[in-house]
Amino acid sequence: MIHIAKPQMGPEKKQAVLEVLDSGMIAQGPRVKAFEEAFAAMCGVKHAVATTSGTTALHVALLAHGIGEGDEVITSPFTFIASANSVLFTGARPVFVDIDPGTFNIDAGQIEAAITPRTKAIMPVHLFGLTADMGEITEIAGHHGLAVIEDACQAHGAECHGKRAGSFGTGAFSLYPTKNITSAEGGMITTDDDAVAESCRVIRQHGMRRRYYHDELGFNFRMTDVHAAIGLAQLGKLARFNAARAATASAYDEHLDGVVVPPVPDGYRHVYHQYTVRVPNGRRDAFVDHLKANGVGSGVYYPVPIHQQTYYVEALGYDVSMPVAEQAAREVVSLPVHPALTKDEVQTVIRAVNSFGGDA
Ligand SMILES: Cc1ncc(COP(=O)(O)O)c(C=O)c1O
Repeated sequence: MIHIAKPQMGPEKKQAVLEVLDSGMIAQGPRVKAFEEAFAAMCGVKHAVATTSGTTALHVALLAHGIGEGDEVITSPFTFIASANSVLFTGARPVFVDIDPGTFNIDAGQIEAAITPRTKAIMPVHLFGLTADMGEITEIAGHHGLAVIEDACQAHGAECHGKRAGSFGTGAFSLYPTKNITSAEGGMITTDDDAVAESCRVIRQHGMRRRYYHDELGFNFRMTDVHAAIGLAQLGKLARFNAARAATASAYDEHLDGVVVPPVPDGYRHVYHQYTVRVPNGRRDAFVDHLKANGVGSGVYYPVPIHQQTYYVEALGYDVSMPVAEQAAREVVSLPVHPALTKDEVQTVIRAVNSFGGDA
């Protein structure tokens, strides 16, 4: 079976972990600092703050922007639940804006209509490794005095008109094992804003600026040096991993038949966290079964948009229609695109897709 994801753990990562274990300094220490500095450089920003996950990175980033009870944050309904849940954790309410059918990202043209006096931030999600329309989003945010919190959990190294994901506002990245790079579990916040970075560091560590003096509420969201050692070694491979993903994506773009392949708008650099196609006409689930019968794993990200998740409908009372996201949830399927795929495996995926007889 060709799996949808395969984390790359070479000998240098094992060596880096052993060095940390032998050092006696296992919790947040020098490796975390080195990983933060290297990550900030990768994004082209002044600061990076490591946390325990992408979810906690989003949560801390929102809190550092002062978002809380009574506020609204505009975001996409077509994403992993953590994007919207991180808004709920602060006491604020996610306000969903439907997506663009081509890119699967928030439709920037519909954002302005969703702004109210309670809106404090726009949280675009750079889904599948393609940034949202950051030119238009930063312009709207600037015009209305809103923060931009980028959910860049799937977009390590992605670019929009020469600027990296995580450098348009305050970025939040996931380092979960299936992501373009991993630290086993982990997250990273990126920002050029000195005050936001300082606030993130304080919130990550129990609201503590001076040892055992607590002026505000915080958490223990610290990354360990063990995780940072893995992350740092992975970061050195990011360019190679992303190039391998892009090479597989261009083979798929060229050779796949019967499915809608993902378009890349001019001026964007897609890093293919997922290579996601559409299978229209109610045939997606049959397509998934066909791939499986041919030894090809796949993933449906995501089968239910957030505004239709049970918790959002029953506990929070969401009753909105997002037709483009709802259709995407019925039609999308992601194919293996991880950097360890061999040329033969890529050909196997192409044969499996093309033998389905899709009619897109
Ligand atoms: C778009 C998006 N946002 C947030 C997250 C949360 O990241 P984590 O799983 O590291 O908490 C993920 C990870 O799956 C994600 O894909």
